[in-house]
Amino acid sequence: MKITGTGSASPSLTVSNDMLATFLDTSDEWIQTRTGIKTRQIISTEQLKDLAAQASTNAIQQAGIKAEELDYIICSNTINEYVTPALSCILQGMLGATCPCIDLNGACAGFIYALDMADALFKRGNMEHILVICAEEPSRMVDWTKRDTSVLFGDGAAAVVLSKGEGFISFKLSTISNTEALYQIRKLQDTPFINKEEEDSALVMKGQDVFKLAVNCSLNDIKDVLKMADVKATNVDHFLLHQANMRIIDTVMKYMKQSEKNFPHNVERYGNTSSASIPMLLDELNRSNKLKTGQKLVFSAFGAGFTTGACLLEWTK
Ligand SMILES: CC(C)(COP(=O)(O)OP(=O)(O)OC[C@H]1O[C@@H](n2cnc3c(N)ncnc32)[C@H](O)[C@@H]1OP(=O)(O)O)[C@@H](O)C(=O)NCCC(=O)NCCS
Repeated sequence: MKITGTGSASPSLTVSNDMLATFLDTSDEWIQTRTGIKTRQIISTEQLKDLAAQASTNAIQQAGIKAEELDYIICSNTINEYVTPALSCILQGMLGATCPCIDLNGACAGFIYALDMADALFKRGNMEHILVICAEEPSRMVDWTKRDTSVLFGDGAAAVVLSKGEGFISFKLSTISNTEALYQIRKLQDTPFINKEEEDSALVMKGQDVFKLAVNCSLNDIKDVLKMADVKATNVDHFLLHQANMRIIDTVMKYMKQSEKNFPHNVERYGNTSSASIPMLLDELNRSNKLKTGQKLVFSAFGAGFTTGACLLEWTK
């Protein structure tokens, strides 16, 4: 498969570090030094489904197809207002598509998992176009009275249209079960048969554990996808890492001894938008003509689960 269209959409509200410091015991200096984040876009008047529809429409238009031509929609989403139906099903109606739809929850690595699923569907042989849409609102997961998590995230949606062709070269996915370092628990409906106390918590994160795991997994995954394809890191033009934190990106870059110019980033403007972060960055690079046919790209992401994954592709649009 190859990418034939990209699109993204962000909420209208820009929240600066100084704005956060008006209601949290934090500062622009602390946030920028530890994360690189300056501003993030946060959902206020919008709904996630509208951002998802906008991002998808942009990608579909760029691919030069109609929504009715999509053979599958895979949506990477961690939370939205509906538990059921899946966001992809809601989106299908908004777009006017008629294909089967499924959501997956791979947390921040969801884009790579969705691409891997799409790759398998193409290999089955009866698909022409698949929409992968990542739509996330982590601002509705964090506790806004807690400075350790709320400053890190932003909301957004980004999509790619994948079409039959040659582009993706290798994938590596892994999962390491962990409910301690990064999790959120929600309370389910009461029943007459449940006596135990149940919790309803905001996102909990052991920042330093996540940091180390993110760096190690990213380095391993990238090494493996390059090895599988017999490609050297020096021959990769753009490493698109999950935009969680500038210090994680810098650490991976330094261990790999690669040039800063090959690690594009926009975390400073969007914060961590979970699985939407890599396709948002991809759309930005694509629409500013930074991607050239024949260039090699690596995507690498990690998130709650822990889910981690990377893939190598040649840009062929
Ligand atoms: C979250 C992260 C930025 C915190 O940086 P850190 O250097 O590990 O900082 P610590 O958690 O040790 O906290 C240091 C101090 O800053 C304080 N602090 C935490 N958040 C703060 C904030 N927003 N503003 C000011 N101070 C803050 C802590 O309370 C602590 O204070 P103390 O020393 O008095 O106890 C860092 O651990 C990180 O980037 N982790 C990875 C997070 C991530 O990417 N998650 C998503 C994965 S998908």
